[in-house]
Amino acid sequence: MLKLLSKIFVLLLPLALALSSCGDQVSSTPQTPTDQTMKHHDTPHIKQEKFGSVDGQDIIQYTLSNPAGMEVKIINYGGTLTSIMVPDSAGRWGDVLLGFDSLQGYLQKENPYIGCLVGRYANRIANGKFTVNGKVYQLPLNNNGNSLHGGQKGFSRVVWTAKPLPETNSVQLNYHSKDGEEGYPGSLNVQVVYTVTNVNELKIEYLATTDKGTPVNLTNHAYFNLSAGKDSTVLGHTLTVNADHFTVVNDKQIPTGALDSVKGTPMDFNQPLAIKTNIDKVPGGYDHNWALRKSTPGEPELAATLYHQGTGRRLEVFTTEPGIQVYTGNFLDGSLTGKYGRKYVKHSGICLETQHFPDSPNHPSFPSTLLRPGEKYRQTTIYKFSTR
Ligand code: GLA
Repeated sequence: MLKLLSKIFVLLLPLALALSSCGDQVSSTPQTPTDQTMKHHDTPHIKQEKFGSVDGQDIIQYTLSNPAGMEVKIINYGGTLTSIMVPDSAGRWGDVLLGFDSLQGYLQKENPYIGCLVGRYANRIANGKFTVNGKVYQLPLNNNGNSLHGGQKGFSRVVWTAKPLPETNSVQLNYHSKDGEEGYPGSLNVQVVYTVTNVNELKIEYLATTDKGTPVNLTNHAYFNLSAGKDSTVLGHTLTVNADHFTVVNDKQIPTGALDSVKGTPMDFNQPLAIKTNIDKVPGGYDHNWALRKSTPGEPELAATLYHQGTGRRLEVFTTEPGIQVYTGNFLDGSLTGKYGRKYVKHSGICLETQHFPDSPNHPSFPSTLLRPGEKYRQTTIYKFSTR
């Protein structure tokens, strides 16, 4: 009998240990430096702290870090990135992400999608209308008579289920979007995994499945400013976009269906170019989708590079997606105050939204965004930080 009991104990011990270290619970116990060091040598420690609550649901902030010291913070409200700390070329750390100090900042209705996940369909759908299997679907219109970023709440203003995955230094977020939610057909299971690698990358892996045909286009709406507070705008940042064409839009930012060459236009970022160089020639500023040059579909490839000379910080964006919406924070007008008491003036940050083209459901010539039952939607985007 004793033998049997000790056998059970030996069998269950590893399970108990694994459960106690899996970090699913919210722990506010500060780690001793020894703990931290030890954990980094084996399984990384993912810090969790309460950030507030929404409709009685706890909002938790997770901190992913790597041995080099890079730190990324994520909350389960909107799957929002709240901070990215990376060094400059002199080894000084700075937060290169726009964001707010508290949950209230993210909850305010004026929050222009700062750092959050965007879906079910990122960007615009003309007149909020599309057809799947002969059936016409009408979405609520929230942007000049069109649908923008998945509707009123989309995936940006909802609470996601979060789970830390210390083994891979990741946080996994899940959201179940019901059939008919925001007007979209099919119940959609979405999973997003944020991972911080040892080479200062933030990797975002998206996965979705549906039980009815539906358009899906997921992205993240992080606003970057690599100066980390040195420059109030990104106009002095240098941008490179790996694209020969962009999608032409009408005055309501809806694609006409045409793809124009960037050659000889202010849209040509094939060579590194300061954002300010031609921005005045683009009415309203940059808020366009570039059609990326791709060689291996399904593989993350370099889409864009952002560089800030003053600090030497560089951000390279790799993606599996065919497009990137470059948005230079044109609608920021100084009325929002973010972290560190910074006022978010026009062009304070730049979004590099990797995605399918806007209004794809209404343009058969664009890469398809239709997800059918039995299929898997996948997209991977990597934000890689370095200095030069
Ligand atoms: C996207 C759009 C912009 C704007 C922002 C949010 O990037 O393309 O036009 O709506 O989101 O302010």
